[in-house]
Amino acid sequence: MIDLRCNYLGLPLKNPIIIGSSGLTSTIENLIAIEKGGAGAVVLKSIFEEQIKFETDKLLHSHEDDMQSWQEAFEGIVSSDESYYDEAYEYLTNYAQEHTLDLYLKLVKDAKKAINIPVIASIHCNTQYDWQYFAKRLQDAGADAIELNAYILPSDFTKSGSENEQMYFDIITEVKKYVSIPVSLKIGYYFSSLAQMASRLSETGIAGLTLFNRPFNPDIDINTLEVNASNMFSNPEEYSQSLRWVALLSGRISCDIAASTGIHTYDTIIKQLLAGADAVQVVSLFYRNGFDVLPGIIKDIEKWMTEHNYHSIADFKGLMSKAHINNPASYERVQFIRQYSSIV
Ligand SMILES: Cc1cc2nc3c(=O)[nH]c(=O)nc-3n(C[C@H](O)[C@H](O)[C@H](O)COP(=O)(O)O)c2cc1C
Repeated sequence: MIDLRCNYLGLPLKNPIIIGSSGLTSTIENLIAIEKGGAGAVVLKSIFEEQIKFETDKLLHSHEDDMQSWQEAFEGIVSSDESYYDEAYEYLTNYAQEHTLDLYLKLVKDAKKAINIPVIASIHCNTQYDWQYFAKRLQDAGADAIELNAYILPSDFTKSGSENEQMYFDIITEVKKYVSIPVSLKIGYYFSSLAQMASRLSETGIAGLTLFNRPFNPDIDINTLEVNASNMFSNPEEYSQSLRWVALLSGRISCDIAASTGIHTYDTIIKQLLAGADAVQVVSLFYRNGFDVLPGIIKDIEKWMTEHNYHSIADFKGLMSKAHINNPASYERVQFIRQYSSIV
């Protein structure tokens, strides 16, 4: 009898496959299809920090007479800072009405009513100011956990590496003041010492790290001279970056690890679990193929486990982490010495 059950962020999952934050997880119809397909959990589409700030500001301006009471309601944490990113502000003025905080809270509540698998809410954030009280509202709406999607591109010439890194700690400290449900952090890999950063982050009390977010990738249209998005969806070859880091960090940090990016097949899921992931997050695969492929993927994992005489995830999780393999340097090798010198 194959048992795929596992624990992630302290939540019991029937299997380690999580549908990652995206448009796919923004409707109840999809969430029901996801549960029906057999997923272990879902991370809802993110609400953006800028949306929370915008709504807060809108409320404050439309209730200027009541300013005092709003400030009291938000426990004095609302500031008058209006330094939103220009682009985000423009986007929000057109879009916010449709994506209000109330709608997001409703999504969380409706999701909890509609499905039984864990529902992880998601906040996209890049500063530590003003929005964290909203995490408490997500908790009150019934979210089982919160994933903070914090991807701070180190492109500010005036900020040092340590200043950039401090932001992550400030965000976590603030959010954790408001919630008692598990909080995880979805990060990129732009850190000067990713291993140490992951270790320090894991000691802040977060329950998990998601490795890695896949950023918007810019491209240039050479005819219109416009910058546009390239490769919105990942390709199946893109998993090795997270595989390397899952293998390096597994067993060495004090929180769970979810592998993310480029997971398109059942064997990639197995590889990530062998490397030491506690769960995997999958998105592009389902955009390309729909949720109908999910039961087949689960069956294939079970088949592989049967063939290899593994009965539970614990039987093989982490067997190929750096700590467990004979040649641990393989995960740290960055030059193809043998391959490069033999190719003519
Ligand atoms: C259309 C689309 C929308 C996404 N929206 C979000 C989002 O709201 N929040 C988030 O944290 N990640 C978002 N992501 C990123 C995914 O959660 C995931 O990290 C990324 O797609 C890499 O996983 P994959 O290779 O399985 O696609 C989005 C991805 C796509 C393709």
